Amino acid sequence: STPSAVRIVEVGARDGLQNEKTIIPAATKIELIDRLSATGLRTIEATSFVSPKWVPQLADAAEVFAGIAKREGVAYPVLVPNLQGYERAREVGAREVAIFTAASEAFNRKNINASIDESIERFLPVLERAAADGVRVRGYVSTVLGCPYQGDVPVADVVRVARRLHDLGCYEVSLGDTIGIGTPLKARAMLRAVAGEVPVDALAVHFHDTRGQALANILACLEEGVSVVDSSVSGTGGCPYAKGATGNVASEDVVYMLEGMGIATGIDLPALIATGLWISEQLGRATSSRVARAAVG
Ligand code: HMG
Ligand code: MG
Repeated sequence: STPSAVRIVEVGARDGLQNEKTIIPAATKIELIDRLSATGLRTIEATSFVSPKWVPQLADAAEVFAGIAKREGVAYPVLVPNLQGYERAREVGAREVAIFTAASEAFNRKNINASIDESIERFLPVLERAAADGVRVRGYVSTVLGCPYQGDVPVADVVRVARRLHDLGCYEVSLGDTIGIGTPLKARAMLRAVAGEVPVDALAVHFHDTRGQALANILACLEEGVSVVDSSVSGTGGCPYAKGATGNVASEDVVYMLEGMGIATGIDLPALIATGLWISEQLGRATSSRVARAAVG
């Protein structure tokens, strides 16, 4: 049955910006995060402490993280691919991190230059240190409904990797349709299979909207009891190492759908729309949020 409340994990400042070609000033990123934290969002992914050679756009991670006006009750998780990233994140006071791997070997190799097992090996010291430091760890599994390099991804692989991340101590595992290729019945079947091994309360869904299927896929997963949804304000986003990937589902559209279904999000939709229009303007392009477009007429 559908949940009565949903927590949105806003990934616009990280997933949304990581693929932008022109370097965005740190001050703009900080302003985006601060505007987002005023909308009622409780989880705002701030940046990634990855290799600046791999993702030049987020080379300013430390400056951005340090510059955010941390709001009481808001979590600001950051991506870390290895211990080096964890240490950089901790230096500026990060209290929640996200580790990321994939259900597809081919994608993982392109994205983090490691096999799935090698990536898990790299995470072990991060998880150990995080446990000692009292830092919460979120886990991502990419390519849960298909891979740009390998094609089909067996559900059993998704289940195995998600279960491993949860067993290792991730409080939540986010299931990513990295290239927005899934459709609702497949999303539901995948979710059901994973929920057979990982409690559904510890699962989140992360849909890119490449083919316009994201809201339908989210609805299918909500009906399976998922209550955490990743999305990006104004629908920005995409992974630079996933060929053909475009933006995440727009947060405004997710909030509109949820509130319309009587599912509470705690988010001020007009404020979120305004923030999405502001960042679109900064990026010099139109918003991808249909709800925002409708609001401005
Ligand atoms: P590598 O080249 O194999 O690693 O990259 P390395 O250990 O050989 O390091 C190479 C250089 O990077 C060295 O510097 C390291 O010091 C440095 P050099 O000696 O050449 O001067 N380095 C770092 N610098 C700063 N911070 C670090 C760090 N680590 C190494 N943390 C590595 C391996 C994992 C580092 C690299 O592949 C990488 O950073 N990949 C990140 C790719 C990425 O960020 N992708 C997008 C995020 S995932 C995503 O979008 C999907 C998601 O949204 C869910 C979904 O949609 O499915 C989450
Ligand atoms: Mg993503």
